[in-house]
Amino acid sequence: MKAAVSAALLAGTASAFNDWTFPIHPEQDIYGPNGDNYPSAGPQANSTYEYVVVGSGPGGAPLAARLALAGHSVLVIDAGEDHGTDRQLEVPALHPYASEYNPSRWDYFVNHYANETQAIRDTKMTYVTPKGEYYVGTNPPEGSVRKGVLYPRAGTLGGCSQHNALVTVKPTRNDWNHIAAITGDDSWEADKMQAYFEKMESCNYLPNSIAGHGFGGWLQTRLTPVGLIAEDLKVASLVVAAATAMGKGLLGKLVHTVTGLLEILALDINNPGKNRDSLEQIYQIPLAMDENYSRSSPRTLLLDVARATNDDGSKKYKLDIALNTLVTKVNFDTTATTPKATGVDYLVGKSLYRADPRASTEDGGIPGSVYASREVIVSAGAFNTPQLLKLSGVGPKEELETHDIPVVKNLPGVGGNMQDRYEVGVVGKAPTPFALLEKCKFLNGTDPCYDQWTHGVGGTLKGGYTTNGIAFGFLHHSSQADKNDDQDLFLGGVPAFFNGYFPGYSVHATSDLSIWTWLTLKAHSRNNAGTVNITSANPRDTPQITFHSLGEGVGGEQDLQAVLEGMKYGIEAFEGLVPLDGAFDRVWPPPEVESDEDLKQFARDEHWGHHASCTAPIGADDDAMAVLDGKFRVRGVEGLRVVDASIFPKIPGMYIVAAIYMASEKAADVIIEAAKSS
Ligand SMILES: Cc1cc2nc3c(=O)[nH]c(=O)nc-3n(C[C@H](O)[C@H](O)[C@H](O)COP(=O)(O)OP(=O)(O)OC[C@H]3O[C@@H](n4cnc5c(N)ncnc54)[C@H](O)[C@@H]3O)c2cc1C
Ligand SMILES: *[C@@H]1O[C@H](CO)[C@@H](O)[C@H](O)[C@H]1NC(C)=O
Ligand SMILES: *[C@@H]1O[C@H](CO)[C@@H](O)[C@H](O)[C@H]1NC(C)=O
Ligand SMILES: *[C@@H]1O[C@H](CO)[C@@H](O)[C@H](O)[C@H]1NC(C)=O
Ligand SMILES: *[C@@H]1O[C@H](CO)[C@@H](O)[C@H](O)[C@H]1NC(C)=O
Ligand SMILES: *[C@@H]1O[C@H](CO)[C@@H](O)[C@H](O)[C@H]1NC(C)=O
Repeated sequence: MKAAVSAALLAGTASAFNDWTFPIHPEQDIYGPNGDNYPSAGPQANSTYEYVVVGSGPGGAPLAARLALAGHSVLVIDAGEDHGTDRQLEVPALHPYASEYNPSRWDYFVNHYANETQAIRDTKMTYVTPKGEYYVGTNPPEGSVRKGVLYPRAGTLGGCSQHNALVTVKPTRNDWNHIAAITGDDSWEADKMQAYFEKMESCNYLPNSIAGHGFGGWLQTRLTPVGLIAEDLKVASLVVAAATAMGKGLLGKLVHTVTGLLEILALDINNPGKNRDSLEQIYQIPLAMDENYSRSSPRTLLLDVARATNDDGSKKYKLDIALNTLVTKVNFDTTATTPKATGVDYLVGKSLYRADPRASTEDGGIPGSVYASREVIVSAGAFNTPQLLKLSGVGPKEELETHDIPVVKNLPGVGGNMQDRYEVGVVGKAPTPFALLEKCKFLNGTDPCYDQWTHGVGGTLKGGYTTNGIAFGFLHHSSQADKNDDQDLFLGGVPAFFNGYFPGYSVHATSDLSIWTWLTLKAHSRNNAGTVNITSANPRDTPQITFHSLGEGVGGEQDLQAVLEGMKYGIEAFEGLVPLDGAFDRVWPPPEVESDEDLKQFARDEHWGHHASCTAPIGADDDAMAVLDGKFRVRGVEGLRVVDASIFPKIPGMYIVAAIYMASEKAADVIIEAAKSS
């Protein structure tokens, strides 16, 4: 059974977006898992492990597996369940559906701005109506209550690695060298961090640069089969249009052939070359996919280690995984001069955290505690890590006192410095659907594309579901790029309507298969004014998240100018297209949004991000706002580290997850080394 979607969509007017309604509890088809999902059970109460890791996402999972492989006893705790072999999570092309999948979705509603007048101009602004459904748009029915803008996260084994778009792109050399510079710790230098990329990767695309890749790691990388692009004349024409807009046109070549395309698309965005970060280039995009074109992620690594057995059938490594377990507090021994983390308190139960739409307003869950003889490592993500630290008494003193939380350590930087990228979609519509997707039903009924993905023998033969849709992307510079010459704009193409996140966005994105979005992404954005604030001392409640975007934060005019330039490449690419299979009419921003000023206001109103980070940053010893030192240790306490998207002083790269994986691998080395000398 499907959710009722708004009349506007079904009447075929999805092109002009506004006035959208969607159920708060949409009905979804639940298919049986394709493999083994890990059973849900809480921890053994009062047990002791050397390490307790809170959160099994990209920050927590690789680290926990490495500690166990090194012989340590480790407990990984996650508030969610395992759904890693469910269709929605496995199939690359269904990633938007994964992020709205009832059994794993955590929905945050965030503020892009504190300024309400500006905030409500966003057509993605979401309200709960008196009828009890979501309204998304600028004309909410009378009596509606404003929630904010949807920010999807995954509360599930593997965290957001289970719903993300699979894009695997390394950060820049400068991103790492900056951390080395502020900490004075040269183990953060780019040349050293490169080893962690090679350690985690299992590269499966050719030709790659060979140097600079790993071939035996736990994360499999592959490209969208180029034959799929070549077979779809629309996509091929868009590749050429993008190349032309970038001044790399190859008009007159047989671009709709594999060879022609390969002349345009450089293969290796993750090459180790020194000029890789400054080259303007169109690349195919490496995706985290295994040999079956199924999502590849650290969940597999974690499960492989947890399930490994000796010859006699006994457990090989001391790694336990507790699911449906919400950690509510890190406990400290405060009798010592420096407070020392001793373990965590938790609640066991399904859907206890209120980002999970199934959560109750009643307080449920069975309480318990576990102990860490060595350390607690918090890897709960950019929103939950600062929330958990604050709930545990580590954070800005005034905020903790407001909620009657005893202060263990006054650390004013916790929950500040939040950063994200700015993204805007430029959307066009062709007269006919993309050949690539024509037969795809996107979970709405019997689906030939899913059958092909399941039964096809590999690559092109597995069909349109073997890609996340973002098959290629451009890296380039805006006039506002940093002086260090790193690119600051990514322009990616995707055969879907992508204008950001709102309840039901996945259904909307694929409801018209003749739509293409040029997605512009501003990297190395300047704003670091975002905040994560607790709204109560109840650990089930979600925090208040405010990005203070653009003009409200730092460097707003510069970032906005860069976004404008990115959008104009997208607009130009539509306008300059040689229609091998029909031209595209721009539908979003609506064609009347034309002048630079109007386009800028559009970007102010409509931008979004999905790489929230930097909320417990590493910083210099003399930086009062630093939360961590260069060894991931929370300053001012002992036995506590943070390893996840929160640790970065500045948001790294174009995409963030590869940087988190690399940091997690590094943290494992740091912690294993520290254990040897204590
Ligand atoms: C829709 C979407 C698409 C994305 N696509 C890409 C992409 O293509 N490429 C890319 O590089 N990046 C992408 N990202 C970003 C990337 O996936 C995230 O930045 C990354 O997963 C963050 O990792 P993390 O370990 O910091 O936290 P998370 O992945 O959020 O993991 C945190 C885990 O901790 C658990 N947890 C939280 N609080 C508690 C608690 N109190 N007790 C117990 N457990 C708790 C959660 O259940 C979760 O499993 C995307 C993000 C989104 C939202
Ligand atoms: C755990 O310890 C607490 C406090 O000592 C005790 O009340 C509780 O019964 C113990 N739980 C188990 C399962 O042993
Ligand atoms: C709030 O936003 C509106 C709309 O963008 C703008 O006109 C106004 O100046 C802003 N107010 C402040 C105090 O910045
Ligand atoms: C790919 O599919 C085959 C056949 O079902 C299976 O044996 C193999 O384990 C799968 N690979 C992964 C990485 O899951
Ligand atoms: C919100 O969090 C930020 C960062 O921790 C902090 O500086 C600020 O004081 C907090 N605001 C409130 C109202 O507590
Ligand atoms: C699902 O498919 C049915 C029948 O093919 C169609 O009428 C309906 O509009 C589709 N729903 C969505 C949300 O696309």
